[in-house]
Amino acid sequence: MEAERLRRLFRFFGATQSAGRSPVYEALSEGVAGDDGLLGLLLDTPEEQRRPSLFFAAVNLLLASRRGSELAAYYPIHGGHRAVDDRLVPALSAFCRRHRDELARLLSERSTQTNEIRRCVALRVGVDHVQRHWPGPVAFAEVGASAGLNLLFDHYDYRLDGEVSSTTSASSVVVSCEVRGASGTGILRTAPPITRRLGIDQRPIDLSDPDARAWLEAFVWPEHIEELATLRGAVDLAAATSAARVVTGDAATDTARILGELPGREPVVVFTASLLSYLTAQARTAFVAQLREAAQRRPVAWVFAEAPGLLATTGLDVVALRGPLARRNSLYLVGASLRGADRRHDQLLGLADPYLRWFSPARDPADDFDWVPTD
Ligand SMILES: C[S@@+](CC[C@H](N)C(=O)[O-])C[C@H]1O[C@@H](n2cnc3c(N)ncnc32)[C@H](O)[C@@H]1O
Repeated sequence: MEAERLRRLFRFFGATQSAGRSPVYEALSEGVAGDDGLLGLLLDTPEEQRRPSLFFAAVNLLLASRRGSELAAYYPIHGGHRAVDDRLVPALSAFCRRHRDELARLLSERSTQTNEIRRCVALRVGVDHVQRHWPGPVAFAEVGASAGLNLLFDHYDYRLDGEVSSTTSASSVVVSCEVRGASGTGILRTAPPITRRLGIDQRPIDLSDPDARAWLEAFVWPEHIEELATLRGAVDLAAATSAARVVTGDAATDTARILGELPGREPVVVFTASLLSYLTAQARTAFVAQLREAAQRRPVAWVFAEAPGLLATTGLDVVALRGPLARRNSLYLVGASLRGADRRHDQLLGLADPYLRWFSPARDPADDFDWVPTD
């Protein structure tokens, strides 16, 4: 039964995440689903580690130092030029057989550690919304911050629909995103002054560790050469500044305490992106309780880019989450929940693909986005 679940999981990943974005992962997802040997390798790893993204990252990490292998020839990020053909899946099988022990070790020890700075588009939209309600400087924290690259969101340039939407002084990092259902112009305003910035993560990535940097890069997909360059630019920027500090902490138990240690009384924007899927139902409830506790001391704005079905379990007062939108979990909902000691205002701001390759601004607060083309 577990093998069948994994087959479906890889097919789902291939059809919903990879299709149209990575011909290599689309073909490999189907290949894994149909290969009992590869499924066997996954079945030997702890259950919570059986994720397509983790599996492909482990393979990718090993490939980075084996550029001469047949499989690497299909990966443009490793210098390959070969188009997908019927040798691709056998090349993966052979590679995994040859490196089975190393893969098994990576799959049991490592965790999903992406840091997708395109999600800063959702953050910027959320921060703009916060500014409309609470103008002025804000402190900033991200829970589930990974390497802390989103902490530098106001240091990046933004290009929405090819239009330069927001620039900082000579940033070398450009965040690009397609806008659906609206023009990219005017979506982003000037970011407010950020008084402090802090990341919280169960397993922060230490950017001074070359091994940790390599693991982060392993989550870049085979054809995404530009994304690799953007990621490297953001990593270099973060390494050159001490601003992107990430402390170790659990979202469910440590958020209120760590936020309580941030000096000042200005509002704090708390960003989460792709965090909720890593929390159990109990931990999600506990995380929301942590935000409530923190809001007793100073205004807290939770800005999120998360799967609608998971958001629907957090008690948010968003009309559209009571309808079919709550089942569209292959997409992310962007929104903000402004919390004071005794008032709360939740607002839907947009729908996006999980990696923020595209973003659709909400047409009204009850928008259910049934009009958005989703590839
Ligand atoms: C998919 S990554 C997203 C990272 C970042 N937010 C982004 O959008 O690029 C999820 C992150 O959540 C962290 N995480 C998972 N469970 C956590 C928990 N209980 N408390 C804090 N962080 C957690 C992981 O270590 C990982 O860095």
